[in-house]
Amino acid sequence: MNSSSSFSVFIFTAVIILRCLNPIKAATCHPDDEAGLLAFKSGITRDPSGILSSWKKGTACCSWNGITCLTGDRVTALTVSGQSEVAGSFLSGTISSSLAKLQHLDGIYLMNLKNITGPFPQFLFRLPQLKYVYIENNRLSGPLPVNIGSLSQIEAFSLEGNRFTGPIPTSISNLTKLSQLNLGGNLLTGTIPSGIANLKLISFLNLGGNRLSGTIPDIFKSMPELRSLVLSRNGFSGNLPPSIASLAPILRFLEVGRNKLSGKIPEYLSRFKALDTLDLSRNKFSGAVPKSFANLTKIFNLDLSHNLLTDPFPALYVKGIESLDLSYNKFHLKTIPKWVTSSPIIFSLKLAKCGIKMSLDDWKPAEYYFYDFIDLSENEISGSPARFLNLTEYLVEFRAAGNKLRFDMGKLTFAKTLKTLDLSRNLVFGKVPATVAGLQTLNVSQNHLCGKLPTTKFPARAFTGNDCLCGPPLSPCKV
Ligand SMILES: *[C@@H]1O[C@H](CO)[C@@H](O)[C@H](O)[C@H]1NC(C)=O
Ligand SMILES: *[C@@H]1O[C@H](CO)[C@@H](O)[C@H](O)[C@H]1NC(C)=O
Ligand SMILES: *[C@@H]1O[C@H](CO)[C@@H](O)[C@H](O)[C@H]1NC(C)=O
Ligand SMILES: *[C@@H]1O[C@H](CO)[C@@H](O)[C@H](O)[C@H]1NC(C)=O
Ligand SMILES: *[C@@H]1O[C@H](CO)[C@@H](O)[C@H](O)[C@H]1NC(C)=O
Repeated sequence: MNSSSSFSVFIFTAVIILRCLNPIKAATCHPDDEAGLLAFKSGITRDPSGILSSWKKGTACCSWNGITCLTGDRVTALTVSGQSEVAGSFLSGTISSSLAKLQHLDGIYLMNLKNITGPFPQFLFRLPQLKYVYIENNRLSGPLPVNIGSLSQIEAFSLEGNRFTGPIPTSISNLTKLSQLNLGGNLLTGTIPSGIANLKLISFLNLGGNRLSGTIPDIFKSMPELRSLVLSRNGFSGNLPPSIASLAPILRFLEVGRNKLSGKIPEYLSRFKALDTLDLSRNKFSGAVPKSFANLTKIFNLDLSHNLLTDPFPALYVKGIESLDLSYNKFHLKTIPKWVTSSPIIFSLKLAKCGIKMSLDDWKPAEYYFYDFIDLSENEISGSPARFLNLTEYLVEFRAAGNKLRFDMGKLTFAKTLKTLDLSRNLVFGKVPATVAGLQTLNVSQNHLCGKLPTTKFPARAFTGNDCLCGPPLSPCKV
């Protein structure tokens, strides 16, 4: 789940709409703006898809690609964005400090350009009207300036996906107009400055994917607007701080996976009426999941995988879960829970090593259509997945290694979309069907398969430990 990138798309769309609302383009162009933009262009050393090709001296800069002028002939927003679906739509080079000439700029959006390098752009401090900064998915590096707090008029600030290092400056507490702060996906170190508690208007906070450590400060009481909190993929330790409880009325995304957090899952999380996504995965949470989780009736994405959680797992009365991962805890669920099987919208189900002992023949999901990912590895599941696999239409991954599945693989049919099939360490018999050649990853090792292998690109490791498989990459069949 990448809430931050969908947020960027939202901002980007909003920018485009704003631009369309402004059909009257100034015929000329303020000389300062033209000079600043042309200096920016000359700092770009490669532009393979011609993103800046409309930027020509002496033409009206308000009509150039990516330029918005909401007030007369002055440039108010600069939007240059690479698109991942267009090959080579990125830029190389640096961001010219001459952009400081664009004195009416209120938004700068330089996104997904991938190969823009250099330090933190100091010219931002010289733009008095600047409110929105999105410099995302480039390669800027070095420390964040200690006086970052003097950008006090900023309302949205994202440096996601660069290579900034060093601590989050304590002066960040001066950015009291911020409603969005996204420093995710950098190389930041140190702790979260407790002064972040001053950001009382914040609704979106992403510090995920850095090298931050220490405990998560108890700062959330003063953030009544916070809807999305992402602290995943860092080195945070200790318990979830109690003040997170005060976010119950409106928090939608709580993502703290891949840290070193410990303690019990707090009871208060079950009072989060708007919670859409809860990711506590890959931490050291222990004890039982609170029974009151039954009240999380609106949750769509729940990832508690790779913790030390114990039985019993509460029944949830959720109307439809979309993705669930409870893998690698100390659960003994015995069956795939009813509230999962009955979901009309589930696309990802991961219950590896969850102590499931049922037969797949008895598993009749309410819906097969949306399933993309299934991982039921390391359980004691018997029977056959053939009926299920035959009914799915968009399945991409099916993993069920280390179970007791017993069926004739030669008769297996599966969706054309399937890329990964792991049936290793089961009791599967019959032949390997030729259709597996279309997969990207296959593992049927340690089963009871027999006969000549079809032609595939898979290594011998994918087939070892069977009864009598033969032919390349295994040894030749006896004639
Ligand atoms: C990225 O930029 C560097 C230097 O600016 C250049 O050497 C390199 O070729 C660029 N990479 C791509 C993929 O264009
Ligand atoms: C932050 O605000 C305080 C109090 O208003 C002020 O003294 C300090 O200079 C500011 N720091 C920065 C970096 O703007
Ligand atoms: C669910 O919430 C209600 C009040 O909102 C409470 O009375 C009930 O005990 C909760 N259920 C569980 C299982 O905690
Ligand atoms: C798969 O489904 C098709 C039609 O939906 C049916 O004809 C076929 O027998 C099924 N195969 C298996 C292995 O269940
Ligand atoms: C296949 O599965 C076995 C057992 O689960 C594992 O040891 C092996 O590394 C896997 N091989 C490949 C190619 O994934």
